[in-house]
Amino acid sequence: MNPAKRRTVIAGNWKMNFTPAEATEFINTIKPMVAGKDNCDVIFCAPYVTIAAAMEAAKGSNIKIGAENVHFAPKGAYTGEVSAEMLKAIGVEVVIIGHSERRQYFGETDETVNLRTKAALEAGLRVILCLGEVKEQRLSGITNEVVAMQTKLDLAGISAEQLKNVVIAYEPVWAIGTGLTATPEQAQETCAVIRGVLADMYGADVAETVTIQYGGSMNEKNAAELLAKPDVDGGLIGGASLVPEKFTAIVDAAQ
Ligand code: 13P
Repeated sequence: MNPAKRRTVIAGNWKMNFTPAEATEFINTIKPMVAGKDNCDVIFCAPYVTIAAAMEAAKGSNIKIGAENVHFAPKGAYTGEVSAEMLKAIGVEVVIIGHSERRQYFGETDETVNLRTKAALEAGLRVILCLGEVKEQRLSGITNEVVAMQTKLDLAGISAEQLKNVVIAYEPVWAIGTGLTATPEQAQETCAVIRGVLADMYGADVAETVTIQYGGSMNEKNAAELLAKPDVDGGLIGGASLVPEKFTAIVDAAQ
């Protein structure tokens, strides 16, 4: 973390969990637990049908509710998809794009990630852009090349001004939901590589202002060590974001 240069962001990715009633109960429980902890943004990204209930419960608190995906077209024949304008219309301010589960199971590519990111930014949404290597790539020693390529392709055509609304989530795919966490050193090294690519694309001064999160089995035990690294500016949290005590402990680690 480097709070002097950039905002720390602790975000939960609920994935396909929580009905509206469950989300209401969760937010009501965690609201007082994170109240006043203002040294980081506190965000939960929720399934589409759960967003409205979560937002209602979060009213007046320091918790923001986001979405987990968005389509790139403004409207039209895209069965099952949701547009940026639709998200804006219900008050959503932030959206996850390019999560590895979308890339793995739903055919998401760097090209569609780029299109979705552009559409979201043009609509005025803040984007949490996910990228990261798979296990074979780490074992082959090509992690740096993989994340550099993803960073360039996913942000192609996005201006420095638009980049102010982008948070990058470095999520090594082998660490997601596996209980395997990147070591703080691995997380730092790869986040620094991403920042270096941003410096090439936008200049060092701009790169220094971009929040880069780590995601992948971040929990109440390992968060402090990961967040202590200079280029790790927050967390994108799956499993531990479903348990109020665990998520709150991560928010505490960011204070
Ligand atoms: P876990 O924290 O469950 O490993 O999930 C991380 C993740 O995918 C967040 O987007």
